[in-house]
Amino acid sequence: MKYVISYKNINSTLILMGRSFVDFRKELNHLQKINWGFVDSDTQYLTHNYHPYPARFIPQIPSKLIQYLSEEGEWVFDPFCGVGTTLVEATLLGRNCIGNDLNPIGSLVSKVKSNLVSVADKPTLDSLIADVEGYFELATDTPSLIPHLSVMPEYRLPNIPNRDHWFAPNVQEELGVLLARIHMLPSQFLVDFCRVAVSAILVSVSNQDCETRYARKEKDIPIGNVYKRFISKVREMWTRMEAYQEKRQPVTSQVINDDIRTLEHFPPNLRVQLVITSPPYPNAFDYFLYHRHRMFWLGYDPIAMSRKEIGSHLNYQRKGTTQQNIAAFKNAMLLCFQGINRVLDTHRFCCFVVGDSIFKKQLVKNDQLITKVATRCGFELAINLERNIHAHRRSFSSSARRAKSEHIVILKKVEDV
Ligand SMILES: C[S@@+](CC[C@H](N)C(=O)[O-])C[C@H]1O[C@@H](n2cnc3c(N)ncnc32)[C@H](O)[C@@H]1O
Repeated sequence: MKYVISYKNINSTLILMGRSFVDFRKELNHLQKINWGFVDSDTQYLTHNYHPYPARFIPQIPSKLIQYLSEEGEWVFDPFCGVGTTLVEATLLGRNCIGNDLNPIGSLVSKVKSNLVSVADKPTLDSLIADVEGYFELATDTPSLIPHLSVMPEYRLPNIPNRDHWFAPNVQEELGVLLARIHMLPSQFLVDFCRVAVSAILVSVSNQDCETRYARKEKDIPIGNVYKRFISKVREMWTRMEAYQEKRQPVTSQVINDDIRTLEHFPPNLRVQLVITSPPYPNAFDYFLYHRHRMFWLGYDPIAMSRKEIGSHLNYQRKGTTQQNIAAFKNAMLLCFQGINRVLDTHRFCCFVVGDSIFKKQLVKNDQLITKVATRCGFELAINLERNIHAHRRSFSSSARRAKSEHIVILKKVEDV
């Protein structure tokens, strides 16, 4: 007989099972009393503002969930970690954490945001900044005139389709030199730290209109401006990293870069005690498109990502009827919950922060869809909290959807499947 625990029988279950799990009734009650709006809260503290990313959730949400639904030293998993909001909060609260995202930019940023650069690397970073200041003095839009290129064997421009359409010649030149110099750094983590700084400024120096609009807009970026922006960004990141270091607990943060449906690189023996995530919305964003230029410059493959991205607006537009697309999303979520079921301890929680989507004028209530799918994968609904969102405080903000509220769906794993 399968044993299903619910709140009605939790006391008897506790007696039956001794102290093998914590009774979370009190904590769930507390969660229901929280005002989840966080209208006046700072959402960009410490490393959270390293890098822009569409549809991040505000850090206060995972923070509260971690505080109430896990213990220090336990493991928290975010299967769609984006740029690591959950991971940063977990490390501040003394929980180990593991994040996964299909987007290699998201995975890179998550790793850098939730770990520390060694203080011993500061002189190396200072000397890189001094070199870049020197390039700024020499900057010109004629690549062949730049003398330092000859000492940079790694220097090359990526093979970006329509590169000249998207990047002015001086910008191409400066990005190429910068990345070549970064690759000469001796520490891989410092390389990644600096690559995140380059990635953070990349859309602003390109001719891509903005973070969530893939259209050309001439920006007339002055010569040397890439160097200038990089120096300012990396300095700011360092200051924030030092502040984070003061507060970060000595725990592990691991990041993988998989399709959640296969999760090939998840450590085979790792069990987690809490899952928190904001999944991709069906028909809302195209991360592979918005981050296309970043991926090309940093040596990743946006086309490979586009084939696996869940919820991609562009993919839904290209093929299938609305019903087929909703079914494809449900199927992706089914595989996702099966994966979560494999790694999450029984009687522990999985929290999904979701709003609604619109498919060709048809409203899809994602909280209900998620709950339905999860109950087929060994979960039961613990609570569904509605969160009113201030226009500027949406954990997801999509021009396609102007939702005034979203849901924090808290599911409990009741059995292995
Ligand atoms: C709403 S965002 C998560 C944002 C995150 N909560 C944060 O604060 O940064 C959803 C994420 O799902 C990722 N994603 C889309 N398809 C995926 C897949 N097949 N496997 C894993 N991640 C995927 C996207 O790259 C995106 O980062």
